[in-house]
Amino acid sequence: MTVGTESGLYERVHAAADHVRARLGGRAPQIGLILGSGLGGWADRLGDAVRIDYGDIPGFPRSHVTGHAGRLVVGTSGGATCVAMQGRVHLYEGHDARTVSLPARVLIALGARVLIITNAAGGLRPEWAPGTLMLIRDHIDMLRDHPLRGPNDDRLGPRFPDMTRAYAPELRAVVKDVARARGIALEEGVYVAMPGPTYETPAEVQMLQRVGADATGMSTVPEVIVAAHMGARCIGISCITNKAAGITGEPLSHEEVTETATRVRGEFESLLDGVVAALVERGEVRA
Ligand code: HPA
Repeated sequence: MTVGTESGLYERVHAAADHVRARLGGRAPQIGLILGSGLGGWADRLGDAVRIDYGDIPGFPRSHVTGHAGRLVVGTSGGATCVAMQGRVHLYEGHDARTVSLPARVLIALGARVLIITNAAGGLRPEWAPGTLMLIRDHIDMLRDHPLRGPNDDRLGPRFPDMTRAYAPELRAVVKDVARARGIALEEGVYVAMPGPTYETPAEVQMLQRVGADATGMSTVPEVIVAAHMGARCIGISCITNKAAGITGEPLSHEEVTETATRVRGEFESLLDGVVAALVERGEVRA
């Protein structure tokens, strides 16, 4: 399903949000989470959870990738009401960037003014072992579609959004503090979004290293762009599941990606627990 480029995006976002809100008994999520490949388990631990299949939400695109459940979970963690996406859709599935990023808009429309966006990514730094966690400082967009292409709806956001603080510096500081307090090793770097679904060629990996990227993946950027458009703040966290193509010479596989994500699950979930609680404690989301 593809969201039209002409009009109706605002209505679609709010129709989906209204449908979800009707199931929440008056609870308004403060934090939205988009959980990438193999990282969705965190949402299973939310308290007082309401689970809604993407297929039941009008206008919501469905994911078909193994390791993505395709479900919205609303529940509590660390004193916050969270809305978490277990799985997301990608451009390579055939959806356009507006459609891929529609769920992120719905999380924001539900009340989440902070989004925590996670992904599995290939490491461009040869010294980073698979399982490394990377806080995203900034991104480079190499995707061939843009979620804001076409007429702008001023009710959603401005025509020319600023991206200077898309990965909010004050929220990155929170994540670094939590990682330090919990003894979790955390790198920081630039994420580059590539179209996929092929993994990069070794030559592309060399190019991406030269342009200043530290991790490469096939998601996240459309969602961060619409969050910036709507004035929501983002935290981005990559799980480096493998060294990018050509670094070791071994072939890449989706199994390796999900295996690594599963292996670091405990650490990753502890980081998310701590970040959610710290956002509440520090007043970064309303209590
Ligand atoms: N490249 C692109 N996307 C990915 C990778 C990769 O090496 N690993 C996990 N997602």
